[in-house]
Amino acid sequence: MQTLAQHLTSQAVNDSLSQLILTLADTSKAISHAVRHGALAGVLGATEQENVQGETQKKLDIITNDMLKDALKADGTVRGLASEEEDHVVEVSQNGQYLVCFDPLDGSSNIDINSLVGTIFSILPATKGPAPAGVLTETSFLQSGRAQLAAGYVLYGPSTMLALTTGQGVQLFTLHPETNEFLLTNAAMSISPDTQEFAINMSNQRFWEAPMQTYIADLLLGKIGPREKSFNMRWIAAMVGDVHRVLSRGGIFTYPTDNKDPKKPYKLRLMYEANPMAFLVEQAGGKASTGYETILDIQPTHIHQRVAVILGSSNEVDACLSYHGIDY
Ligand code: AHG
Ligand code: MN
Ligand code: MN
Ligand code: MN
Repeated sequence: MQTLAQHLTSQAVNDSLSQLILTLADTSKAISHAVRHGALAGVLGATEQENVQGETQKKLDIITNDMLKDALKADGTVRGLASEEEDHVVEVSQNGQYLVCFDPLDGSSNIDINSLVGTIFSILPATKGPAPAGVLTETSFLQSGRAQLAAGYVLYGPSTMLALTTGQGVQLFTLHPETNEFLLTNAAMSISPDTQEFAINMSNQRFWEAPMQTYIADLLLGKIGPREKSFNMRWIAAMVGDVHRVLSRGGIFTYPTDNKDPKKPYKLRLMYEANPMAFLVEQAGGKASTGYETILDIQPTHIHQRVAVILGSSNEVDACLSYHGIDY
């Protein structure tokens, strides 16, 4: 089986990008180790701090953020980073070629119940911005998802897995517990165009927009409804887990617009959740939209910007979009 390093060579990924991906992968091995030790390492539970989104930070949110930040600072290829757990962008190295956006611990509400969590990352080119020479600003990060050079996630599940795209399909690697190497276990992840499985937090139903209310109601009608087939539902409460299932066996995942808190109509973050996942999903043959706009085409305005997300099996995403008045 190919190692991650061998795979990057076989894909002719350039040396500096390969180095950066290997650094992220190595850090995820250390995160996997910390997650596995759980209560034994004293890493569970919450802190008294809040992040920029107003979420109480778990100890592991901060530990994993610091692990990634330290590794990226030592790497030498990184110009700057943006993280869910950092209020502002962090300047790393004047000579770095890349910007890294990451969600160090996705699904952090799962950590204290020993359930699925992961890490999500997106790599952008460090373009020369309008700022004075040598100054890194948030503006440098505000590139559409189409500019991503690579994206991926690591899932700390029963086995630790890395799903990666460098724009040449999606490859899945499994961490060998004894050799500590990521080995290629699926060379071409592919999302089936049709599905009978959906993922949504149903407890928000009354807060959704009318098109999503009607779409989900029709799925629930099963064979007697307009969709004329039965649907099953799954919700892991960690986007990494739900998207991994979609990449593995198809499905539609959505965290739609809601009016529960009018100041926060969306939950998921564009730069380090929606964009990397949309890149992976498109590379595996699926689709990713807000309901009105293709996620990868959004021009970001803020590093912590939130968006509605509807992604997965292409025909099912199209079906959902048709309820939003968009015909494909
Ligand atoms: P994070 O733990 O990084 O803040 O992200 C949590 C996100 C996402 O992973 C998941 O799909 C969603 O929040 C779960 O939301 P609910 O609590 O509404 O289920
Ligand atoms: Mn969070
Ligand atoms: Mn997250
Ligand atoms: Mn997170």
